[in-house]
Amino acid sequence: MERVEKPGRPISVVVLAAGAGTRMRSDRPKVLHEVGGASLLAHALGAAAALGPERTVLVVGHGGEAVAEAARAITPGIRIVEQAERLGTGHAVRCAAPALDGVEGDLVVLYADTPFIAPESLARMAAARDAGAGLVVLGFESADPGRYGRLVTEGDGTLLRIVEARDAGPGELAITTCNSGVMAGEAATMLRLLEHVGNDNAQGEYYLTDLVSLARAEGIGCRAVLCDEAETLGVNDRADLARAEAAFQARARRAAMLAGATLVAPETVFLSHDTRLGRDVTVEPNVVIGPGVEVADGARIAGFCHLEHCRIGPGATVGPFARLRGGTALGADCRVGNFVEMKNATLAAGVKAGHLTYVGDAAVGAGANLGAGTVTCNYDGVDKHRTEIGAHAFIGTHAALVAPVTVGEGAYVATGTVVTEDVPDEALAIARPRQTNREGLAARLRKTFAARKAARARSES
Ligand code: UD1
Ligand code: CA
Repeated sequence: MERVEKPGRPISVVVLAAGAGTRMRSDRPKVLHEVGGASLLAHALGAAAALGPERTVLVVGHGGEAVAEAARAITPGIRIVEQAERLGTGHAVRCAAPALDGVEGDLVVLYADTPFIAPESLARMAAARDAGAGLVVLGFESADPGRYGRLVTEGDGTLLRIVEARDAGPGELAITTCNSGVMAGEAATMLRLLEHVGNDNAQGEYYLTDLVSLARAEGIGCRAVLCDEAETLGVNDRADLARAEAAFQARARRAAMLAGATLVAPETVFLSHDTRLGRDVTVEPNVVIGPGVEVADGARIAGFCHLEHCRIGPGATVGPFARLRGGTALGADCRVGNFVEMKNATLAAGVKAGHLTYVGDAAVGAGANLGAGTVTCNYDGVDKHRTEIGAHAFIGTHAALVAPVTVGEGAYVATGTVVTEDVPDEALAIARPRQTNREGLAARLRKTFAARKAARARSES
């Protein structure tokens, strides 16, 4: 994610993730469900990281060890605090106070289940802070404000207070400006005011949103900054998750096209959070690109391919119907055709594997040709073994390469050969029974079979 220009003052971020996520009906914590191949948590921590924070604190619920572990892997140095009892968003941020001890500058509160807040929106909040607002809340206009908190504002964006839907009267419910949940202000002030937040409301919760009226009572100016409703899309159940995925895909496809890739039927191409497509890459319909894929300039991915954790060199063509798995790297101008699977395989420039081939745990030299049905037998049921194929080697149709094995440069492996021993450079390996032809035997067999069938028909009638 791009880095937002850092304002003059340091920033710390609190990411709330203590929600139970019961509506997901899942054994997995809600924020570890994925959109675009990355967890909701990873998206939120990405937005946090873009702020260049001094300190990042994640608030997890009771038993949030899996979430904490995932967070540490994404953001080393993140501080984790537990909110043992879920007493509201204000209470959650208060739980983070000890981990924020001594921080200077601003505090930004994000939700882990709201993955799409744009860096630009956070930058506009920072700009409002720079312009003198004491507390800044990110809001959005909604045609269907439902259960969102309502922002009570004056026309110029001055924020008077936030009312939760369940505490709102009819007049307030008619307000269509909603609270996204994202809030920014001076850390020390926010933490001090949080001490005064009570829970005398419809849900009996400590509301973070009450900071606005508490700030105003002290003469601190509050402002609402608005963003697009799409950014505030939160995930509560699997239907929300699918909506979030659709929104992510629409954005990722558009970004790929604007960066110079042709997606012939964009709505049938699935991308990941870290997909990198070069200039003049063409992706044909029905292609799924999982995490960790980089496609260099001018490469072509034909229809129905499935790619993950692989690099495709410039000018290479892949598919249709190819599957490239983790650790695969294709050099420039490689040709990988239909029904080819590769895993942990490095192909140098110009390698051809046109059809029906499996290449696993292998290195293939430049210009080598893997005939139809070439299979590296990399697994013995216990261990994986490597196959090395030299530059310009020619592997004949239906060859089995029993790893560990090396085929030398310029070597030739005859069709149907089972290679169990290394093949020297420029040698021909052939391992198959010699063919013998028996004159007239086909005709004799055919006559015998026909006679048998006739005898059977007679006995059955
Ligand atoms: C909250 C806001 C509401 C806003 C809405 C946007 C408050 C009081 N209300 O409502 O104005 O429109 O978000 O989605 O802030 N969480 C904790 N601990 C808690 C409670 C919540 O960590 O004790 C976390 C949740 O995991 C979630 C986020 O805070 O990530 C928001 O919680 P949620 O219950 O969804 O908020 P709402 O009540 O919908
Ligand atoms: Ca709630």
